[in-house]
Amino acid sequence: MSQLSHQPSIDPAKSEELTILVVDDEPSNLTSLRKIFERENMRVFTAGGAKEALEIIRTHGIQVVLTDLMMPGTTGVELLRAVKQLSSTTEVVLMTAYGTVETAVGAMRDGAYDFVEKPLKRMAIVKSVRKAAERQFLLAENRSLRQEIQLLTTRKIIGQSQTLRHVLDVANQAAPSSATVLILGESGTGKELVARYVHGKSGRADRPFVAINCAAIPETILEAELFGHERGAFTGAVSKREGRFAKARGGTLFLDEIGELTPSVQVKLLRVLQEGEYEPVGGSTVKADVRIIAATNRDLKAEVEAGRFREDLFYRLNVIAVTAPPLRSRREDIPLLVDHFLGLYCKKNARDRLTIEGPAMEKLLDYSWPGNVRELENVMERAAVLCRGTSIGLTDLPPGVAEAQLEAPTSIEFAIGTPLEEVEQRLIKETLHHAGGDKPLAAQLLGISTRTIYRKLEGMPII
Ligand SMILES: Nc1ncnc2c1ncn2[C@@H]1O[C@H](COP(=O)(O)OP(=O)(O)OP(=O)(O)O)[C@@H](O)[C@H]1O
Ligand SMILES: [Mg+2]
Repeated sequence: MSQLSHQPSIDPAKSEELTILVVDDEPSNLTSLRKIFERENMRVFTAGGAKEALEIIRTHGIQVVLTDLMMPGTTGVELLRAVKQLSSTTEVVLMTAYGTVETAVGAMRDGAYDFVEKPLKRMAIVKSVRKAAERQFLLAENRSLRQEIQLLTTRKIIGQSQTLRHVLDVANQAAPSSATVLILGESGTGKELVARYVHGKSGRADRPFVAINCAAIPETILEAELFGHERGAFTGAVSKREGRFAKARGGTLFLDEIGELTPSVQVKLLRVLQEGEYEPVGGSTVKADVRIIAATNRDLKAEVEAGRFREDLFYRLNVIAVTAPPLRSRREDIPLLVDHFLGLYCKKNARDRLTIEGPAMEKLLDYSWPGNVRELENVMERAAVLCRGTSIGLTDLPPGVAEAQLEAPTSIEFAIGTPLEEVEQRLIKETLHHAGGDKPLAAQLLGISTRTIYRKLEGMPII
């Protein structure tokens, strides 16, 4: 069985692991059915009515319920519905008496796996229960694999810092509209993650999210790659090909490294944004139905000033702008990210969950993370692979990180729109750090009284 499975499911080949519940209001039926299934090495629970049955399902992992259709109080069909609600992967087999076959057939539509007719034949009920168990096993395994894949592929945005929360607030506000979003930020800060987040929260979530890295595609083919081409549009275009705009139809097109676009492609992109239409190479005009999210780690405004990026395109893209903050400006997120990546990579490497030792965590907090979250992720992956013990110590970190010294910055940068409260908190903390922890000196530098700095520090988060 897969070691990935979280759900209690059984291998139908081994019937001693199979747990079933028999429900019947007739005690003698329960006794004889118990005997039959116990002889098959199954674990058997019995219940005289629906209430008792549900209690057993709630407290024991039941794979298959075999229930009488006609019982005083709750009928087998009502019990079936309740079972499915309580535990959707538990399979139900109904026992029907003469004249109730039609009801049983109806119950199949409500999710019953099978029905067996009374008088019961030993072989027939054992076979039906076994087949139901097999199906339960496959469904439970399938579901747990799907959960596992989702865990590995969907990436949650981890972090509690105010700067990150501000980014997510803007992303949440922007998501439902089809406005263009421009995501700025250093390399590895999670720009693509934010783009996927916006898409996931938008009305286009069930349509494609198509990403294209404008820097990675040679200039000569970028246009065809974006807009597609007709057959014979240029040498080598042996057949018609859809571009990314067409592939993202109804969804979101993520233009990564937009700062690298050549002037000719900039013009074409501007046209799509202005007119909502484009021409595949060698083809005729097509309507564009995509939401554009663009990202760059360049200072796009400076690129405009330097004449490398069209100003009109910049304004078209810059409808809603968010800046993914560098990791060193939100160190309070580091422990959360460390925990997240450790969990992820221990699991991926099929090893027990590692812990992190105090001095190692201190270095992770001191390091300046020029490669931001991506660099932290790589460091944690490396540690999860290389660590020989049960906890990560200084020796499991790369030398550059293990020797990190927290530098006192002499200036701080804030993104436009940073909440004032956060600006104040960071300014006070960094000044205090710069003053070597001397609060009166920091207060003097900030032009506030010592009492004020004490009061302000009291109300602040620890890190
Ligand atoms: N807040 C976060 N929580 C969890 N994972 C994160 C977070 N931010 C970034 N990551 C992870 O860090 C890695 C880099 O993120 P991403 O690719 O989104 O960055 P980027 O800003 O697009 O980088 P680049 O500019 O180099 O393309 C990814 O594996 C991503 O899942
Ligand atoms: Mg990226």
